[in-house]
Amino acid sequence: MAEPHEGLIVDRTDEQLRATGAIKWAAAPPGVLPAWVAEMDFAVAEPIARALHEAVDVGRLGYGPPDEVTGVPEALADFAADRWGWHPDPAHIVLAGDVVEALARVITTLCEDAPVVVPTPAYPPFLEVPAHTGRRLVTVAHDPDALRATHDLEAIDRELAAGARTLVLCSPHNPWGRAFTREELTALRDVADRHGAMVLSDEIHAPLVLPGHEHVPYATVAGPESRYVTLTSATKSWNMPGVKCAQVICTNAADADRVRAFPLHPTQSSLGTAATRAAYRDGRDWLDAVVERIDANRQLFGKLVAERLPRVRMRPLEATYLAWLDARAYGLGSPGAVALERGRVWVDHREWGPGGEGHVRVNLATSPERVEQVVDRLALAWESA
Ligand SMILES: Cc1ncc(COP(=O)(O)O)c(C=O)c1O
Repeated sequence: MAEPHEGLIVDRTDEQLRATGAIKWAAAPPGVLPAWVAEMDFAVAEPIARALHEAVDVGRLGYGPPDEVTGVPEALADFAADRWGWHPDPAHIVLAGDVVEALARVITTLCEDAPVVVPTPAYPPFLEVPAHTGRRLVTVAHDPDALRATHDLEAIDRELAAGARTLVLCSPHNPWGRAFTREELTALRDVADRHGAMVLSDEIHAPLVLPGHEHVPYATVAGPESRYVTLTSATKSWNMPGVKCAQVICTNAADADRVRAFPLHPTQSSLGTAATRAAYRDGRDWLDAVVERIDANRQLFGKLVAERLPRVRMRPLEATYLAWLDARAYGLGSPGAVALERGRVWVDHREWGPGGEGHVRVNLATSPERVEQVVDRLALAWESA
């Protein structure tokens, strides 16, 4: 029997991927297998390619138009209602270039001039953004030995009591691979609300929650007193981070106006708005197909890791296509650097902050053949070290 979404995901060859010029393959030296930054090894979804071709044909190459004429806020609201039963108000959705830029913009415009709490290990730019807004970064590490990566609520509570006013939530979490439950998010909300703190919920990986888990928008656990902003983008799930169109979902018109007024120029691109509208409206089958592929790859990867990398600890991957491996048992200092040097495989070994030592992140949005090659190269590098 044919797979429900057979044929939608088109694998690209190494040559094709290098020819795209996108960073994951373009930055990898010859002979190195790249499995680091969050880009997929698949051809772009057909509805997105069509929207981009049409946009170029009509010359849609000027500055991003006003948010309300892009169709993006409505398309996102419809997608959120359909997938998660969440009904954001399109009038409160502000477009921006990308999520990292939007995070800095939201901190600058809506958050008090006080320290920002970032749970770690963290997506590396989160560790740098607060300083760019003139605010102090406070990290709160999760216990790397815990069976399940969770927020240290007591430590977050302590930091908020000590003066921090903003919490950066990554939900689903990169690199932990977690899709937080409603109970977990409610407990976190209680801590934030107790201090009147602002929660900035980065939900860019929400469409990539894997079978057996669900995405719970922070907005759906928030209470009437809660202060929060949700940030997202279609560019991660539909693999088009170069087109630039993130969405900042505010809870009221005044906040949206403040975010929209800064900077003075739109940073989202016209092409990004066309591609994003197409993704949310017409790219849902492709998304389902990509989730099926990631689901199959996480199972294959888990099995191969257990067989060939017995000292690695991998927690179940609940969301994202980024597996988080604890390689501390090999005692290698930087297992990622050793993998690159001896195994010629580039797994992500940036600085993740406290709790990230001895861990690497592996990109599984590729072919099953490359998934196996990654494991073999890691085994060559680590098992023989
Ligand atoms: C949690 C998280 N937020 C933000 C981003 C980057 O998003 P953008 O390209 O829109 O800045 C990534 C990229 O992988 C991510 O994992």
